[in-house]
Amino acid sequence: MKLPRQFFQPLAIGAPSPLRELPIRLERMIHFVPPHVEKMRAKVPELVRQVDVVLGNLEDAIPVEAKEAARKGFIEMGRSVDFGQTGLWTRINALNSPWALDDIIEIVGTIGNKLDVIMLPKVDGPWDIHYLDQLLAQLEARHKIAKPILIHAILETAQGVNNVEAIASASPRMHGMSLGPADLAASRAMKTTRVGGGHPEYKVLADAAGEGPRAAYQQDLWHYTVGRMVDACAAAGIKPFYGPFGDFSDAAACETQFRNAFLMGCLGAWSLHPSQIAIAKAVFAPDPAEVAFARKILEAMPDGAGAVMIDGKMQDDATWKQAKVLMDLAKLVAAKDPDMAAKYAL
Ligand code: GLV
Ligand code: MG
Repeated sequence: MKLPRQFFQPLAIGAPSPLRELPIRLERMIHFVPPHVEKMRAKVPELVRQVDVVLGNLEDAIPVEAKEAARKGFIEMGRSVDFGQTGLWTRINALNSPWALDDIIEIVGTIGNKLDVIMLPKVDGPWDIHYLDQLLAQLEARHKIAKPILIHAILETAQGVNNVEAIASASPRMHGMSLGPADLAASRAMKTTRVGGGHPEYKVLADAAGEGPRAAYQQDLWHYTVGRMVDACAAAGIKPFYGPFGDFSDAAACETQFRNAFLMGCLGAWSLHPSQIAIAKAVFAPDPAEVAFARKILEAMPDGAGAVMIDGKMQDDATWKQAKVLMDLAKLVAAKDPDMAAKYAL
């Protein structure tokens, strides 16, 4: 185990010091762009004003013959666009692929000072994070990168789920983690062809009671994994995210999946289609009624201690902390979104 004193040391001479606290940023949606498609790249300057994070995808869904073009397109996009407060991320190819090394070397060497986060797919254990951590430190030193590039892992293998706590705490470079339900389903031999969401056959039946059909209740296939991911991330002080929802025609199901993840502790999700941007905006911001109630708690208990009754409900130090989670997020949303600021009376 790495000793506490060494944990925050740069891994290469000349690399920037690792962050002790993650930057506080609103990341309701990580919007995926295929950077080899010129038409899509042309939309990025406009996209930057609509989303919290723009991600250039180099991995799955990019055809093998377009891998180099996607990398070049991403670098071009990173160079030419002013991202302002919007995050610039890339999803590189998996570490065992023929492209990962050049993805990392070429991107850090060219736009390393603009890149915020590298999303690493198919993370099996902390060893994957350690490898990328060391390589990034060497490249940051070589290219005089001013701030450390963070790592976001995709939780999408059975082995990764087994090692989720070790992955979350593998490095101070860890930004967070996203659930990857498509690869995870394949890795676990789950019997579904869907990308996220429920399955009509994963359900419980109400008890048999005389005649008539028995009620059936569909269950959430991802509840267990999201729960494990949220606990691992919260314990390590990093951010959990729901990943992709593949059925673009079913906005209601997408919204429900995103909301379950939000209520359980996730901070955002991927948007793979423009229609999912608005869904993520609506879901990953607290409900104004909840914020109004949170305000009542915070005002009734200014020092966060003791117990009071509000609208017949008991409040104490723990509900004060819950209220603070909601209010802090509301303030972050309000700072970026004047409509929401008005709804929150902030
Ligand atoms: C995402 O990468 C997934 O496999 O779901
Ligand atoms: Mg995947």
